[in-house]
Amino acid sequence: MFSAKKLYEGKAKILYSTEDPDILLTFFKDDATAFNAQKKGTIAGKGEVNCTVSAGLFTWLESLGIPTHYIDCPATDKMRVRAVTIIPIEVVVRNIAAGSLCKQTGLPLGKLLNPPLVEFYLKDDELGDPLLTFERLMLLEIVSAEQLQNIRSMALNINQHLQQFFENCKINLVDFKLEFGLDRNNNLLLADEISPDTCRLWEQNVSDPQQRVMDKDRFRQDLGEIESAYQEVKQRVLARLEKLGL
Ligand code: TMP
Repeated sequence: MFSAKKLYEGKAKILYSTEDPDILLTFFKDDATAFNAQKKGTIAGKGEVNCTVSAGLFTWLESLGIPTHYIDCPATDKMRVRAVTIIPIEVVVRNIAAGSLCKQTGLPLGKLLNPPLVEFYLKDDELGDPLLTFERLMLLEIVSAEQLQNIRSMALNINQHLQQFFENCKINLVDFKLEFGLDRNNNLLLADEISPDTCRLWEQNVSDPQQRVMDKDRFRQDLGEIESAYQEVKQRVLARLEKLGL
């Protein structure tokens, strides 16, 4: 009898082996952390929302020709994915100034960024996920210049599609974080998750800077009504996917 092994436990997900070495099982937890795990909590139903939203968005992105690690969901909080080696870079795409961009540059919250800003952060909790320059990325030899170019254009392409998708959900896609991985044949795949944990999502036509927040900033900033915001994102994403026949 095969027994699944826990391969890795992160802050929001647990990764298990399966009978097939090319397939892994991800369990999405309700645990929430912020500020590099200095703030900890639980968001009831978060695992299910993040798994379901990510699965739907990955399926839709695949239908548009964007390769992802997604296979299927054997349960609402479990996702089977292709085994990849994660590239230890957090790719952030920003359409509207918020979060660390405002804090570090003084740009006003809500300023439109056109063209969108693509940033690379080192995925290393001990170092506090520092912002990288192109030169530092080359110095660290995490990716080649060509791979970086591919990641950048894939991230911008995903942004164009996602922005339109959320527009149809009456949500502004402020910014989001992506992770990429390489499969055994060195193919670049979109990995990790796309969810209210990893995106900033603002309710359209609501100008109040606290009321409009539909993402993990409700937890980061103690804004309350976190669970209902996550559920609302899930409902709107599922409704849009249904309209698209997915
Ligand atoms: P930031 O403004 O804090 O740099 O965040 C940019 C985006 O990246 C935002 O949508 C939240 C997401 N994000 C993560 O998914 N994981 C993280 O650890 C951090 C810091 C941000």
